[in-house]
Amino acid sequence: MKRIGILTAGGDTPTMNATIQGAVVRANQLKIEILGLIKGFNSLFNPRVPHVHLNPLYQEIPEMDPTKGGTMIGSSRDYVDPNKTEELDIVAHRLERLRIEGLICVGGDGTLNGLQPLAERLPTVLAPKTIDNDLGLNYPEEPNEWVRVHEPQSKNGYHYEHRASQAIFDLDYIVNYVTPGYATAVYVSASGVERIRTTAESHRRIAIIEVMGRHSGYIALGSAYGRPDIILVPEHPLNIEHLVERVKQLYDLQKNVVIVCGEGIVDEQGNELGAETRTSDPAGNIALSGAAEALRHKMIHMIGDRYFQLYRRGESAREAIFTRKVGHTQRGGRPIVFDRFYAAQLGAKAVELLLEGRNNAVSILQYTGAKGFQVNGYDANRFRDRWGHIHARRMFSQFYDPIQMKPSRLGINYLLPIFTDAIGDDDMEHIRRTLFAPGNLAQPYHSINTDINKRIRYLEEEK
Ligand code: F6P
Repeated sequence: MKRIGILTAGGDTPTMNATIQGAVVRANQLKIEILGLIKGFNSLFNPRVPHVHLNPLYQEIPEMDPTKGGTMIGSSRDYVDPNKTEELDIVAHRLERLRIEGLICVGGDGTLNGLQPLAERLPTVLAPKTIDNDLGLNYPEEPNEWVRVHEPQSKNGYHYEHRASQAIFDLDYIVNYVTPGYATAVYVSASGVERIRTTAESHRRIAIIEVMGRHSGYIALGSAYGRPDIILVPEHPLNIEHLVERVKQLYDLQKNVVIVCGEGIVDEQGNELGAETRTSDPAGNIALSGAAEALRHKMIHMIGDRYFQLYRRGESAREAIFTRKVGHTQRGGRPIVFDRFYAAQLGAKAVELLLEGRNNAVSILQYTGAKGFQVNGYDANRFRDRWGHIHARRMFSQFYDPIQMKPSRLGINYLLPIFTDAIGDDDMEHIRRTLFAPGNLAQPYHSINTDINKRIRYLEEEK
């Protein structure tokens, strides 16, 4: 292989540039050219296929910076429709004209579903990223446990349900223990929780902090590092009576309560508390909003004003209970060292997979108690259920204790290897050196897009 393409797709994470750089460093060693395709799969729909040569003369371009969040080549949630075979042929032809012999897609479960039809046209592999930590399997048999349940009124005529597992769980057998982006998202969320705490303490308030993750509670679980009193995850339906009782106990004792809720939390009937909107990605992912606000309304209703007035801690429940979203700060900014390091290795491994002749494979990060973290390759087919669909991984339900509403002992054991040394000295030094640099006040922000724009090349029109 002399030339490969790389694209970044789906919601961004702080680690995409580190993955690109890892791939480029390895490609330089192997004397392979890498073209970065602009804005994910979107570039392939454009007859001119905007692209950037990332390693002219097998040297990385100076804009490449693994410590910079986001993605220098842009991302989108566009995907190739597997049923549009003509469009797929055109896309494959465009890549051929660019002399691209293999493709690396940096993405999550949506991207892995999205690249399936392309892998039938040219060697294609995935380097994982997602803050949601939902690309992977809690145990290898997990895809076989999904069943389709007939539902005539739904769009597809069915919905998926996950059958109870027969597998004996072991941390060592998790497939793709953790994805690049997750550690930084948790770092931001946990820091946010710590900061909200002191203001809730001062003003005798109850804070509900919403974190991302869609239907997967991994970010909420990790936010335990910020020491909230209560964590709510989508995998365990909300028991509002139990929650309110616990909130009152805590409030009596400490005059403030901090609750973290995953954006995908559901009530006892399994309905999301927040609102849903469809996105365009082929994993069927949906965007969720408003879980914390919906929870606040329920709590205001159940606790009532009198409770706060009796304590002389506020006029009303409405005033005492407030919500904050960590929001897109979870997805942006500089990646912490754990994320950078493994993102780069996974990018390098993706190049190796292509060279080994693997197609439709994924570079994954494995963890065992005996060996620590190791990068490996895994066939994408093993992520697929019997209908070919790749499901987002949900947080392993036993990582959470629904009575305490906190991580279980197993959940704590899961988190420790990722986070104990996740922050590097340089991560802290970076803040010290750069945040209050005098130049920040006078100089405008210089966007990477401005520089990359000058390097974008196009495929010539076909004669
Ligand atoms: O998948 C990553 C993620 O950040 C989710 O946690 C969140 O629900 C979604 O993307 C938000 O998407 P958007 O940035 O398109 O609003």
